[in-house]
Amino acid sequence: MRILGIETSCDETGVAVYDSEQGILADALYSQIDLHAEYGGVVPELASRDHVRKLLPLIDEVMQRAACAKTELDAIAYTAGPGLVGALMVGASVAKSLAFAWGIPAVAVHHMEGHLLAPLLEDPAPQAPFIALLVSGGHTQLVNVEAIGRYEILGESLDDAAGEAFDKTAKMLGLGYPGGPAIARAAEQGTPGRFQFPRPMVDRPGLDFSFSGLKTFTLNTRDDCAGQADLNSQDVADIAWAFQDAVVDTLALKCRRALRQTGARQLVVAGGVSANRLLRQRLAEMVAKEKAEVFYPQLRYCTDNGAMIAFAGYQRMLAGSDPDLKVQVRARWPLSELQG
Ligand code: KG4
Ligand code: ZN
Repeated sequence: MRILGIETSCDETGVAVYDSEQGILADALYSQIDLHAEYGGVVPELASRDHVRKLLPLIDEVMQRAACAKTELDAIAYTAGPGLVGALMVGASVAKSLAFAWGIPAVAVHHMEGHLLAPLLEDPAPQAPFIALLVSGGHTQLVNVEAIGRYEILGESLDDAAGEAFDKTAKMLGLGYPGGPAIARAAEQGTPGRFQFPRPMVDRPGLDFSFSGLKTFTLNTRDDCAGQADLNSQDVADIAWAFQDAVVDTLALKCRRALRQTGARQLVVAGGVSANRLLRQRLAEMVAKEKAEVFYPQLRYCTDNGAMIAFAGYQRMLAGSDPDLKVQVRARWPLSELQG
């Protein structure tokens, strides 16, 4: 089976062709980071307009690079949510229109299921049942994956998502957007232990997260530093180090708790924050002690991309998803509502 995947839920236009025998044949990504950088975050209206400009040329390019004729496609998968409604509508309308013209089904994909399944494109791939830690700009969730399509949310963030906390903290420290990579870079020059940040909610049972307190802690630490003199680049690096250490430690601790609680021996980590090197290092140490294994997507499939949508669309086709011609997208969409 061959699937064209289209991702437009936020600030990345992603397109890929997945072949069930050969894997990803071609994929391309256009990032709008430069467009939004001067505003310090994503401007939804600008995002939609840019998807309109970029999507069709990107589809054309990917189809050519995959040496795939439109007659060879079996379906078109698109992100139907969660995400920015205007941005989602661009991908959904293009996918539905092309599918209608080419006489093939259009398959609605849940963006977080796309992230969750991305590690299955790798070799070796995890095999359900497993635990998934989804850490992106909009979500932080621990999911019990009983089978592909059967998802039980074990815990999630009660306020900011991990990626969002990175982005907001970076903004407070005058680092660029997106904040995750900027904090990680600054933290490389940081002094370990100069600041000690709290580990939110680790002393309570359960698998939920809360990251908004860390933001306040960053703000107070920054203002304390700035009160003495100008905030210099070493202060920024030291705060970035302490913040990253606290987030990563908290995520690792909750993952260990989820593994112990469920008895699962495989952990899948996906979403933009799964690109974080310190997180990968801490999780490697944790799973080694727990005699478990951890799986990631390759780095370019950690953040938003078309490949994960094409692959999730393929899984939806196998599960007998029922396509129609209505263009419907959802800003909010609980992962647990999906059916296997
Ligand atoms: O999955 P993603 O591309 O988009 C959403 O679905 O939200 O995730 C983007 C998030 C941003 O918040 C970004 O700051 C974060 O992932 N991120 C990172 C790193 N790379 C991206 N966070 C920490 N460390 C990184 N290396
Ligand atoms: Zn995402």
